[in-house]
Amino acid sequence: MSRIKEILRTKSILIPGRQPGGGFQSLPLGLLAGETAVPFTVYLKIRPRGHPRPLYLQCCPKGEVFPRRWQARMQELKISRVYIRREESPQALPFVQQKFNEMLAAKARGNREKARWGYEAALLWLQHLFALERDHLSEELEIGFNLIENLYEIIMEEKDPGGLVLDLWRQEGLPAHGLHSCLLGLGFARYLGWQEKDVKALGFTALVHDVGLTEVPRAILEKPNPLTRIEKGLIQNHPRAGFTILWNSPVCRWQSLLTVMQHHENCDGSGYPERLKLRQIHPWARILRILDSFEAMVSTRHWRAARPPKEALWSLRRGWEKYRIYDPDYLSHFIKFLAGSRILGK
Ligand SMILES: [Fe+2]
Ligand SMILES: [Fe+2]
Repeated sequence: MSRIKEILRTKSILIPGRQPGGGFQSLPLGLLAGETAVPFTVYLKIRPRGHPRPLYLQCCPKGEVFPRRWQARMQELKISRVYIRREESPQALPFVQQKFNEMLAAKARGNREKARWGYEAALLWLQHLFALERDHLSEELEIGFNLIENLYEIIMEEKDPGGLVLDLWRQEGLPAHGLHSCLLGLGFARYLGWQEKDVKALGFTALVHDVGLTEVPRAILEKPNPLTRIEKGLIQNHPRAGFTILWNSPVCRWQSLLTVMQHHENCDGSGYPERLKLRQIHPWARILRILDSFEAMVSTRHWRAARPPKEALWSLRRGWEKYRIYDPDYLSHFIKFLAGSRILGK
């Protein structure tokens, strides 16, 4: 029996209703465990054969406890994620944050499990942030800084932070790109022996470095054909747009603002927006340039598949030999940082 038929046979867990509009985002099923009422409506995603788009079926109304037997049934069916409507993410955020805090306080839980929930909490926050209007973005940034405090503890606790980050890598898209860059940044800054406040500030900067892309229409960001000059200009303005958005936030240090502004500058002067060269670029921006490229290579894009991490490291090295885009010292440290990770030996 196909999985879809199997799911449809479990109609008892589904509440019939009209197909809701708007976007959806996923949450791990495990977050709904316990006796707490869920402050948002929970949906199940199915893809019936021949249907052009997935369907979202309501499986727990807002304000009710997610029944344990439904959870068990979904686990049997190997369904690990549920969905919420994007417009309900403001209600979901404190709920997910609370669950993450409970997990952090639980002594019996391992660091990897805590990291997985931290990943989900940070990703939900970033998805929420990237969907906001420009005027409301800077007010939300303090939450991101609090998340960094927790993610920092998890990274410091970990024997193999590079391996942990690559292990957590699950989602695609702009918010996930920020989160992966942030986790890599926390691990790498720790490897470089930086002070705690600088490790956290670099992690926070990496988390929000592409916030300026929220001003570029999605159709341009996802365009499969070559971009026009105007479209390219819009994309290349995102470091400046990010700088302006973050300028109003009291949690953003000057180094973070500079790093956001310069994260697409290349050490050979071929980058944007200012075409700066190696020593003119802030050291954090030179690091973020490496994190950003590595993250992009290891992630799937709609026009190409993800590359294995080892191959991406080779590609960064070749990029340095041929074009001198990256800071050679930071690049060689970054390669050593990840080469020592257990996951690259697989
Ligand atoms: Fe960028
Ligand atoms: Fe980026």
